[in-house]
Amino acid sequence: MTSTAALPPLAQRVLGSRLLASLTSPHGVDHYLRQINPMWAATDVRARVVDVTRETDGEHPVATLTLEPTSTWRGHRSGQYVQVGLEVAGRRTTRCFSISSAASLPGERFTITVRAHEEGIVSKYLVREAQPGLILHLSQAEGAFTVHESAATPTNNHLVMISGGSGITPVMSHIRTFLRDGYDDHAQRKITFVHYARSPEDQIFAEELREIAAADNGITVHLRYGPHLFDADELRLMVGGDYTDMDTWVCGPAGLVELVQEAYGDSPRLRVEFFKPPAFAKDDDAEGTLAFNLAGSTASNDGSSILEQAEAAGLTPEFGCRMGICFSCTSRKTEGTVRNILTGETSSLPDEDVRICVSAPVGSCAVDL
Ligand code: FES
Repeated sequence: MTSTAALPPLAQRVLGSRLLASLTSPHGVDHYLRQINPMWAATDVRARVVDVTRETDGEHPVATLTLEPTSTWRGHRSGQYVQVGLEVAGRRTTRCFSISSAASLPGERFTITVRAHEEGIVSKYLVREAQPGLILHLSQAEGAFTVHESAATPTNNHLVMISGGSGITPVMSHIRTFLRDGYDDHAQRKITFVHYARSPEDQIFAEELREIAAADNGITVHLRYGPHLFDADELRLMVGGDYTDMDTWVCGPAGLVELVQEAYGDSPRLRVEFFKPPAFAKDDDAEGTLAFNLAGSTASNDGSSILEQAEAAGLTPEFGCRMGICFSCTSRKTEGTVRNILTGETSSLPDEDVRICVSAPVGSCAVDL
């Protein structure tokens, strides 16, 4: 039977040293440690699933997985996400998932809440098949959808949280952190939380939200179901003033996020997180060819992202989030100009590393794929 104890700190330091890394090249220390015990790691981060709780059923069920990370996990701030790698059919596939539990310290357990998407190999497996004991590969926590305000700081800053569907997960991480750390109404700090879901049956964390809404904690919860769309006038009434002057976080499907962005105009108080890739508009006037240097093939540039065009050409580049946040798809562009689909900025630098999921060629381009 293998021990699950974490490595002692001294062993951790020795195993993480450059000398040992060079002696164990090319596989590295972690390769050998993993053979002895999957929960031993010098620099890699892995986690064991210790609990799986079904949140909702239906066509796209949702489950919360509690993860016990290796001692290399540095903890997370509320609102951050983690890349989760899973071996499926002999190939490691990586996806980003928001962390739904309150902020964690190094080595502490945390949760991810996952909706099974029809096309999502990783999400479907995690929701439908994952059992306690399953080992996952992780990144460190990433992302800037965070709150810089401590519960201990007296302020009258009214915070606004808006989410839709599975976009509730990072917002719940914020709310849980506030409540755990003593955020309450006594310092006149208010939080308005507005969430849009398809139906009450699709509502994740329904019981907990009811308790939060009923408690005397300074948090007002508004749940909206069905085809109810975000409405700027309604938000003004909910917060009792000009919301563009209030620190606001929005996470959800592209349609919701776009409506909120429109309502906030150029207000710097709005922070945005998409939980699934926005539908990128294709440039129908695109011209030229896209050359795949390593495959030795070319395709007519159809104006979509380089990742989509590579996949259409039968290539299988590595990717994670498909929305420009995880950098797993980064590839070398050797020639030509690309447009960042998120910002519209173009870049013509030669030999440049670009995120191919959010880069579209402008004219002819060549990439190392
Ligand atoms: S796949 Fe995540 S940045 Fe491209």
